[in-house]
Formats: sequence, structure tokens, C-alpha cells
Amino acid sequence: MKLNYSSAILLFLFLSACGADPEVVVLPRFIPQPAAMSADEGYFLLRKKIGLSADENFEISRTFLSDFLSASPGMSIEEGNDIVMEKDPELPEEGYRLEVSPEGIVLAAKTDRGAFYGVQTLRQLLPADFENGSFDGRSLKIPALSIADAPRFAYRGMHLDVGRHFFPVDFIKKYIDALAMLKMNTFHWHLTEDQGWRIEIKKYPKLQEVAAYRPETLIGHYSDQPHQFDKTRYGGYYTQEEVKEVVAYAAERFVTIIPEIEMPGHAQAAIAAYPELGCTGQPIEVATKWGVFEDIYCAKDETFDFLEDVLDEVLALFPGEYIHIGGDEAPKTRWESCSNCQRRIREEGLANEHELQSYFITRIEKYLNSKGRQIIGWDEILEGGLAPNATVMSWRGVSGAIEAAKQGHKVVMTPTSHCYFDYYQSENEGEPLAIGGYLPLEKVYSFDPVPAELTETEASYVLGAQGNIWTEYLPSAELVEYMAFPRILAMSEIDWTAPEQKDYPSFVKGVEGIFSRLDALNINYANHLYEVEGDLTSSAGNSAFELRTLTDGKIIRYTTDGTDPDLSSPVYQTPIPVTESMELTAAVFNEKERLGSIFHRQVNYHKAVGKKISLSEDPSPAYPGSGAEGLINGMNGSDTRYGDKEWLGYWGKDFEVNIDLGEVMPVDAIQTRFYEGQGQWIYLPGEVSFAGAATLEEVLSYQAASFEPATANTRTVMHQTGGKEWRYLHIRVKNYGVIPEGKQGAGNKAWAFIDEIIVN
Ligand code: ACM
Ligand code: ZN
Repeated sequence: MKLNYSSAILLFLFLSACGADPEVVVLPRFIPQPAAMSADEGYFLLRKKIGLSADENFEISRTFLSDFLSASPGMSIEEGNDIVMEKDPELPEEGYRLEVSPEGIVLAAKTDRGAFYGVQTLRQLLPADFENGSFDGRSLKIPALSIADAPRFAYRGMHLDVGRHFFPVDFIKKYIDALAMLKMNTFHWHLTEDQGWRIEIKKYPKLQEVAAYRPETLIGHYSDQPHQFDKTRYGGYYTQEEVKEVVAYAAERFVTIIPEIEMPGHAQAAIAAYPELGCTGQPIEVATKWGVFEDIYCAKDETFDFLEDVLDEVLALFPGEYIHIGGDEAPKTRWESCSNCQRRIREEGLANEHELQSYFITRIEKYLNSKGRQIIGWDEILEGGLAPNATVMSWRGVSGAIEAAKQGHKVVMTPTSHCYFDYYQSENEGEPLAIGGYLPLEKVYSFDPVPAELTETEASYVLGAQGNIWTEYLPSAELVEYMAFPRILAMSEIDWTAPEQKDYPSFVKGVEGIFSRLDALNINYANHLYEVEGDLTSSAGNSAFELRTLTDGKIIRYTTDGTDPDLSSPVYQTPIPVTESMELTAAVFNEKERLGSIFHRQVNYHKAVGKKISLSEDPSPAYPGSGAEGLINGMNGSDTRYGDKEWLGYWGKDFEVNIDLGEVMPVDAIQTRFYEGQGQWIYLPGEVSFAGAATLEEVLSYQAASFEPATANTRTVMHQTGGKEWRYLHIRVKNYGVIPEGKQGAGNKAWAFIDEIIVN
């Protein structure tokens, strides 16, 4: 009998080996979730001595499985038929079929790679103790089932920046192990930065002696003023022997490494070692703080000679198809005043410095193509014309991906809004310092790598998605793990699992389930599953606060007077009516204790709460907040995390907000807030103006308002009316415009972020 698999945890009954009592067996909710599964009746009894046989083509998977199973004391592997790994040429390249029956376990695949992914699935059917070799050797009932699986995308990646902070080889291997467990196949190793060059290049010893070390490092956040430094030399690099070891280690786990050698920007460390690579030739230091730096590679022949030499050594170490050449955030100020660069522009008939960047990247592409390799670069490589064979990594939203795919170029999706795991993942105050932003697990999980704007053919250029871990604020491996997990679990499922099989509540159960495995692997994951979430919602003029938690079988308790909830606080059952300002706290409890951190929201019940509101322009789909209604829901956004549900983000657009209070009433003041985070391209609007009227016929007279002093990263604008009888309120917001030279993101459109509009 076959039972249909539902996307949630599958429960099924079978008779236990020793008696007639039915037992409930819980199949794990795998991560990533397979394409198709069904449960059969019965189970396979796995004992201490395991018979394993494998097709001769499956050497890597067989070795991996054998090592995994025999790591625990008393467990042993011999030739036999408990687990049979067999070849099936009909299956997809990376696919596999896993069948567990009372007779044994059969894993079929076309390739060793496919078999390896089947092994990773089998791994999740076994207790977590296997992960660290502490399994006690008891006989195990593996539930009978059939799985047929294959990935949605061919590119399933994670990135790690080792330039801002350096991580030892053992950690790089641990990171690759995690990727492999999650069926990811690409490790994007960001090896060169302004703050440090991390790969040994034998022809250029000063890259090791000078570029790999900075004299000191910024303390705290970049936006803390004045900047302070730790006065401690910092650095390191991977020797070529270590790189070879890592590449071989990754290959044994079917992980391809894409090395990134940044050009023409983010090159300050290299220029510090060899000042002649820059435009000015002047000595500079390896960067000691974060950001975008003006000293970039000069577009003269000597630079290309250097880069070709560097790439020759890189190519010898990394056998993969792709070399990442960076291409992002290269200010053109030095090129504008450099005689070498200007001569190049004239001689090549280029229109401007953007075309010079395109010339630069295309010239490197030609070189790498001549060696049989392909380039991949950040989406700035579209500016001034895309190199003919380049693959684009879209990070500034998805528009770069759309443009590239429409031009017939391959793309990898890593937009900041959904794929930057250096952003905060929780609104808790106690989170470790992060660069900014807010990217909780659910938002990562919601990402679909294929933009809706693409036709089917264009969509076929989307290779897959990648999570990025920039390490300005991550000085330790533990912190990298904290930011990576559990968001990497969501990324693995974005890349592997078909959209029809994706389901957030079911995924969360999988996350809760896999935590014991991560514990066994000594991975320092973040656990925000026992947190309360909530929204103030309004309908027909009545407002109520709705609370939720992600995990089943838990109780929420709350207070409305700002005190911490405890076991005697009321249990949340239905939305809490809101008719006045209140300070709401809530937390998740089991029978005995509080489990998660305390949710805290100040509800500011003002005249516009729950009234009618409309926007002239929708916010960016990447930062929709909770829509127009979120602007008058009585709740402020976070002072430090602009990506939360209260902040609406507009990229380069002007917009108007229109509020209808339902009836004429006295209005003394209208105020709202904007976020300022120039490092994240978020600027205060150029102008904010207010108007009001009692009737629709009245001619509006807009009055501009000025920004009040900053609170954290926010600035309030207030319009004092002097006491008016108004029904219709209007706010006009004019975007800042283009980010000026010398600032991060110069030349790009600025973002504006707005939160609550308070009417008193
Ligand atoms: C990037 O985040 N500068 C690619
Ligand atoms: Zn130059």
C-alpha cells in the first residue's frame, strides 16, 4: 500500500517488531524537501554490522556513507545488501531515488553526484548522534518509503567573505560540509578585498607580506562616530597548499569553488602592496575600515599583466568553470583624473569611465575565455556594456538579473533584500552587531529566484540563488555560523525544492528538527523559532493586535501594561482589541517556563489608526512593509532595522500618501519618520511636504517640513497645523535622487524608507 505524502510531517502506523501495539513513526521533514515522497508499510531494521554495496562509479558517495555510518563506536561496514547503491542511467544528473523496504535500502542514481545527494537524504533519516560519532549502536527502524528527487536549480550557492575577516582552513571545511549536507554545490570564496588579500600568489610576494595584513581595524559600527580603531595588526592568507587541500576537500563533497579576485574596485590591499597598480602611484595602506574606496586598479597594461599573472596562479588551483572577477562598487574618480586611463578611453574610442570598466572586464574575460574559463561578476558589470560571455550575479535587487537574462546572459540571484545574511535576522535587542537591515528566516524562504518579469526562455538563464555572508561585523567563525544558520536552510530549499513543495510552516518544523543535528555538528545556529510575532490589524474601524508563534504546541502569554509576561499572565487566544495606546509584551511558554525572548510593542493609538489610506506609488516589492495600512497601524518601525514590517522602502521614487479620517476632526500635528543609512544607500528625502483639507474640493496648499535631530538611524518630520478642522491629509515625499560621488553606491538611485504617520 502506498500512502500519499503531505507536505507536513508524515505520520504513519505500523506494527512494532516485538509486539502487536501500533507505533507512530515520525518521518523527518527533510531539508531541503525532496521532489516526491511516499511512505510504505513497515520498516528496515538497521543493525550494528551494515552490509553495503555500491556501483563502482559511486566511489565518493560510497566512501562518504561508509565513513558516516562507521564513525560511531561498534558500528561497522562490510560488503552486503543492507544498503545497495546502484546505477540508473534514466535518472537526472543530480537526481536520485531512495527506497527503504523491509528487505533493505536501495539508492539509485545516474551519477556519483546524484548518489551523494541520496546519501544526504538518508543521513536525515538517521539519528543526529551519527553526526558526531556518538550513536550508541542500537538497532534502528528506518521507515519504509520511496523518494524520487532532483534539484530545481543547477547553481546552489553560498558565499563567504574572508577579506574583511579571515577564517582558518578548518572552518572553511566545516562550512563546505554544511553546504554538502544541504545539497548545495557552489562555494563562492571571496578572497580579495580592500582590507586584506587572502590567497598566496607566488609571483607577487608583497601580496603576502603587505596586502594580507592591515595595521588595525575599526571598532564598533561604521555609523558610530567618531571612528575608533583597535590598534592591532590583523590578517592572514591561505597558502596555495591550503587552497589545494580545500579544493580537493570540496570536490569530495561535490562542491565547486568559485574564487573571487575583485577588480577593478575593492583592490586597495593589492595597491597597498604594489602602488604602481593604482592611478596615482602613491603609497596607501591596506584599508582599516569598511566601505567603498577610491583607489582602484588603473586601466593600464601593467595592471593587466599583473592580473593575468595572478589569474594564471588562480586557474592552476581552481579547476571549476567560473572565476568571479568582482566588478562591484568601483568609484571612477581616480580614472577621471588619470592620464593613463584617459588615454585608454581615447585610444579605445570609449564614451566614458563606465565604458572603460566594461573594457576592463571584457579584456579579462577574453583572457579567461582563452584559458577555457568563464567569468561571473556582480551586476555593475552591466554598466557600459556586458562582456560577451559573462554571467551576472544580481545583488542590487533583481533588475540586473532581468536585464542580463533579457540579453541572453546567465544569472545568479543574490539580491540584498533576500540573500544578504549579514543583515539582522531578529528584532531582538540582544542580537550581535550587524551591518543593518532586517532579513528574517521567513523573508529568505519567500524568495523565488525567477523574477516574474521573465519569459520562460529568459527564466532558463537563471542558474539559481546564493546566500552571501559579508564579514565586516563577523570577526569569528561562531558569528558566521550564527548569521548563516538557519537562513542557509531556507536558501538550500529555495535552490533545491520545487515551488509546489515549498511551505513555510512545514519548513519551520524541519528547521526545529534539524537543530539537534546542528548541535551534534557543533554549529552555532541562531534560534528564533520560539519568538512571538504580531501585527495590529484594523477592519471596519476596529483595531486588534494579533499574536503568533512559528512553532506548534506552544502557548503565548501577554500583558498590556509593559510588564514582562510570566506563567500567571493571560494566555493569548484571540486578537487583543486596541482602543487606546498600550504597551504590549508577549512571549512563548511551555507548561513550565518561558522559551523565547520577550516581544515588546508600543501601540500609539492616534487619530489616523485604522483609517483609510492610499499611496500614489507602491513601495518596492523588496521592502513592502505591511503595505499602506502599515503606515497608520499605531506602530513605529525599528530604530535600527529598516527591513521590518513597519518600514516601506522606495527606490528612487517620489510618492504621495493620502489619508481619509472619515470625518472632519481637529488636527494639531501630522508627523512621520524616515530612515537614514547611507552605507545601505538609504537617504532622507529631498523634501517632505504636508497638506490638509475638510472637503475634497478645497485647493491644497502644501507646506514643506524640516527634519528633527536624529534618533538612532531615524529622523522625524513634523507639520504643526496650529489647529485645523481637517478630514483629508496629504504627504508628498520627494526622493533624494542620485547618490553623490564619494559615497557608497555613488551614481545609484537612493532609497527612502518611511514608517508610521502619526496624526494628533
Ligand atoms: C556587494 O555587496 N558589494 C556585491
Ligand atoms: Zn589610471
